[in-house]
Amino acid sequence: MTTGKLDVSTLLSDDVMWTLLGTLYLRAYESRSPHSILRDHYAAEALERIEYDEPALARRLRPKTNQFLVALRGKQLDTWTTAFLDRHPDATVLQVGCGLDSRALRLQKPKNVRWYDLDLPDVIAIRRRLFEERDGHWMIAASVTDDDWLRAIPNDRPTLIIAEGLFPYLQTDDVRKLLQRLSDHFGTGELLFDSLAQWMTRFIKVFVFSFRDGHEIESGNNRLRLQETSPFSTFWPLIHSPGIRRLYQVGHKFKAWRNLMVSYRFTF
Ligand SMILES: C[S@@+](CC[C@H](N)C(=O)[O-])C[C@H]1O[C@@H](n2cnc3c(N)ncnc32)[C@H](O)[C@@H]1O
Repeated sequence: MTTGKLDVSTLLSDDVMWTLLGTLYLRAYESRSPHSILRDHYAAEALERIEYDEPALARRLRPKTNQFLVALRGKQLDTWTTAFLDRHPDATVLQVGCGLDSRALRLQKPKNVRWYDLDLPDVIAIRRRLFEERDGHWMIAASVTDDDWLRAIPNDRPTLIIAEGLFPYLQTDDVRKLLQRLSDHFGTGELLFDSLAQWMTRFIKVFVFSFRDGHEIESGNNRLRLQETSPFSTFWPLIHSPGIRRLYQVGHKFKAWRNLMVSYRFTF
């Protein structure tokens, strides 16, 4: 029997690509709360159009608590993005490993901003079915590690580069080369990304890249300057549910917890 919904089984068979459905699901789940932090109703609408096994995903992702992992990380990146676009309303934004994220829509990107969302061809094929490519908002189907796509992106404006939930899946050398290519190509701007605790890359096969702290990134690339470091639980006061807020509040006092997932803001 066919439901007429979008078949995403190609994504589910891949260890890395299925994660974009996971983050979409968690953002959609979170958006249904009247106290939603991200208010990402675009995620909820996109998820509605996809064929997936809800109980299986819920068992795997435990959305009641884990919705806040993506919501709080997203909130930090949204806040930095909004601040950058307030300062540069004609900026270029490049979001790599965008998955089915709807940041440009939920932040209502300023009219003059050029926004590029890049992900692997199989992902972009699905993304194109769910989100419209409009004036000033384009999708690029490529591996971020490929050489040629970057040449097509103009480098005449301040540029914001966002990589949410991407770097842990890349090889260390690929991240290093990518950062070099980006900082060689663009004149000035900011780079936002998140990273996982180093122990996770030792114990969880799918995670590869990690580093000790942001200064390690600076020492490997002479154009990047670390400006801010933000543990995933920074925005814990925004959690409405008292029990879960308390969990994140207490956890936030401990370095080992804060370091589980950290977002970084660099300038170049
Ligand atoms: C955890 S998901 C995050 C998706 C999105 N940023 C979000 O927060 O919902 C990781 C994303 O990285 C993408 N990805 C992994 N390797 C990639 C590569 N070499 N080039 C481009 N995208 C890649 C995957 O396809 C997936 O969409």
